Amino acid sequence: MMTATTAQTIAHPPAAPFAATVSSARTSEGGLAALGRWLDGTGYADLFSSFHPASFSPGRFIELAPILDDGLRALVRLLYLGEPLTPAELAGLPSLVPDALGDAGLLDTDPAGNVHLHGLMLLPVLNHWLFFERPHVMMTLYYGDDSFALLNRLRVRAGMRALDLCCGPGIQTLQLAAAGAEVTSVDINPVALHLAGRNLAVNGIPAGRVRLTQADLTARWPVEGRFDLIVANPPLLPVPSGTFYPLVGDGGDDGLRITRQILHALPGALAPGGRFQTLGTTFSDGAAPMFTDEVAAWAAANGMSATVVVTHHNPFQPGTPMFDMLTTTAQRCLGQDRETVRGQYDHLRTGFGQMHLCSYYLTVCNDPAPGFQYIDLSEPGQDGLWFR
Ligand SMILES: C[S@@+](CC[C@H](N)C(=O)[O-])C[C@H]1O[C@@H](n2cnc3c(N)ncnc32)[C@H](O)[C@@H]1O
Repeated sequence: MMTATTAQTIAHPPAAPFAATVSSARTSEGGLAALGRWLDGTGYADLFSSFHPASFSPGRFIELAPILDDGLRALVRLLYLGEPLTPAELAGLPSLVPDALGDAGLLDTDPAGNVHLHGLMLLPVLNHWLFFERPHVMMTLYYGDDSFALLNRLRVRAGMRALDLCCGPGIQTLQLAAAGAEVTSVDINPVALHLAGRNLAVNGIPAGRVRLTQADLTARWPVEGRFDLIVANPPLLPVPSGTFYPLVGDGGDDGLRITRQILHALPGALAPGGRFQTLGTTFSDGAAPMFTDEVAAWAAANGMSATVVVTHHNPFQPGTPMFDMLTTTAQRCLGQDRETVRGQYDHLRTGFGQMHLCSYYLTVCNDPAPGFQYIDLSEPGQDGLWFR
């Protein structure tokens, strides 16, 4: 379970049963594309597009089941709730559903012939279908509110050379490729890259349009050449040394471990006029993120313009929602001792002398007019993360 990258990070990919079959499965791009087209007209997309795209809660859809017709209810149970369907229930769906999912290694069948998705769910996100892992504490094939927040900000044009770092199952990759960019996508987790391939297929995007590359960004810069647009939703949560945390979220002591690696490489990777878009969380004093001076100095030294937008400065001390959320997640990983984890986080924040955790967006432009801009949208008493 231990990773090769840092001693305290939890390795991929322990969770998704999908991992066991995906690499050996027959890929059926045509089948998945047909499934995506068919789903467009089923009501499944209409149903889920009726809820806020940055938040979803599997529990609440259980209550919806009785108001749906049999076909739509079977789809919700199979694709959203992760429930097994009996052979009779499956027979009520077109054969392209089990055929496409089965060929792509996304389906599991028990001895009684009941089928279910391999620990995954399929949701419409804007104009894309996205397979990702059913949410749980040790998630490795990630989609969440931060994924959507970055997606919502992407500015992409056809023909751009684009790089998606820490792509995971690939929601930003889908947006870039669908807009006609020439895309390279990178992740440390090979299973996430396999799933990103399935997500390209279910959206009818030819595999050749995106280069999927496995690399550890802490070990090496994975690509050559310069890009017009680089995007990253990296592991972005502060995690004290010695605390275990899922790889998808572990941003090191100040949440910036991977982000700094990217900034280091950026001057050699951004084309003239090119742009880098990312987001994260880090400590703040309630007025400005701890890294403000560091980013401003980096921009000046490298001839870049950088804009930091903070949406919230959340109070971060024992008893606050953010502190409790982070420490509870960390504590649930591998059953770590609650008081030890809380002590480690308390030590971390007091060591930095910062009593807030802020959520920020960072945009960097390889610009003829370098500079630094800080926009603080936070409001005292308003907790939250990505949106005001
Ligand atoms: C928060 S998830 C983002 C996934 C996707 N881009 C999204 O927004 O939904 C972070 C991703 O970073 C990947 N990752 C973690 N450490 C990495 C590293 N050292 N090098 C490359 N990718 C890494 C994880 O496997 C995970 O897929």
